[in-house]
Amino acid sequence: MTALSPKPQSLIPVIAIDGPSASGKGTVAQLVATELGFHYLDSGALYRIVALASQQQKIAWSDAAAVALCAKSLLIAFEHEQIFLNHQDVTNDIRTEAIGKGASQVAVHASLRQALIEIQHGFCKAPGLVADGRDMGTVIFPNAQLKVFLTATTEVRASRRYQQLINKKQAANYDDILQDLLERDARDQNRASSPLIMADDGVLLETDNLTIFQAVRFVLEKYQRFI
Ligand code: DC
Repeated sequence: MTALSPKPQSLIPVIAIDGPSASGKGTVAQLVATELGFHYLDSGALYRIVALASQQQKIAWSDAAAVALCAKSLLIAFEHEQIFLNHQDVTNDIRTEAIGKGASQVAVHASLRQALIEIQHGFCKAPGLVADGRDMGTVIFPNAQLKVFLTATTEVRASRRYQQLINKKQAANYDDILQDLLERDARDQNRASSPLIMADDGVLLETDNLTIFQAVRFVLEKYQRFI
C-alpha cells in the first residue's frame, strides 16, 4: 500500500478545522471561509460521495480495493452550494444518516484516503482555503497556518443533530442518534489510517456553550494572530 504523501507547504494560507461528527465544524468553516473570501473544502462530502457511489454500484463499503477503484472513476464537482456526482445533483442524497455511516466505513481504507488526496489539494487556491474534516491539519494540510480542533460533548452533538433532522421534518430518535455518533466517533478515532486526532500544534475549541458566531469569531481572531 502506498504511503500518504501530503504536498509541501505552499504560500497559500490554509485554515484546517477538524473534529468529530455533528460538532458544527462545517457551518463554522463555511462562515469563516465566507468572511475571509477563502475557498472552502468539505472533505467529509468526498467520503460521503464515495459511500453513495459504492452503494449505487453494489460495492460493499468494506471492500477496500473496489471502493478505492470506484473513487478513482468518479466525476465530482462542487458548484456553489451544490455537489454533483457524474453530473447528477447529490447534494441532499449524501446527507442522510445511512450515507454518513457509510462514509465513516469507507474512510477506514488507506487506499481510498490516498485516492482522495489530490482532489483535496486541488482546493488549495489563492486567496486561501478553509478545509474541514478529520485529518485536514494532521495529514492533508500539515503546514496549515491555523489548525483548529472543534468539538463538543456527544450529548450536545446528538441534540444538535436531532434538532437539525426535526427542522428538516425528518424522522429522528435521540437515542439512535447518540448511539450512531458513539459508533462513528469510535471508528473515526481508532482507525489505523489518518485517525481523528488533534494535531500537536492544533488549538482546541469546545463549543458546548458557544454559539456558531462565537465559534466563528474565535477562529477569525486566532487567524488574525497568524498573519
Ligand atoms: O464530516 P462528515 O460527517 O461529513 O464525514 C463523514 C465521514 O467521513 C466521517 O464519519 C469520517 C469520514 N471523513 C474522514 O475520514 N476524513 C475526513 N477528512 C472527512 C470525513
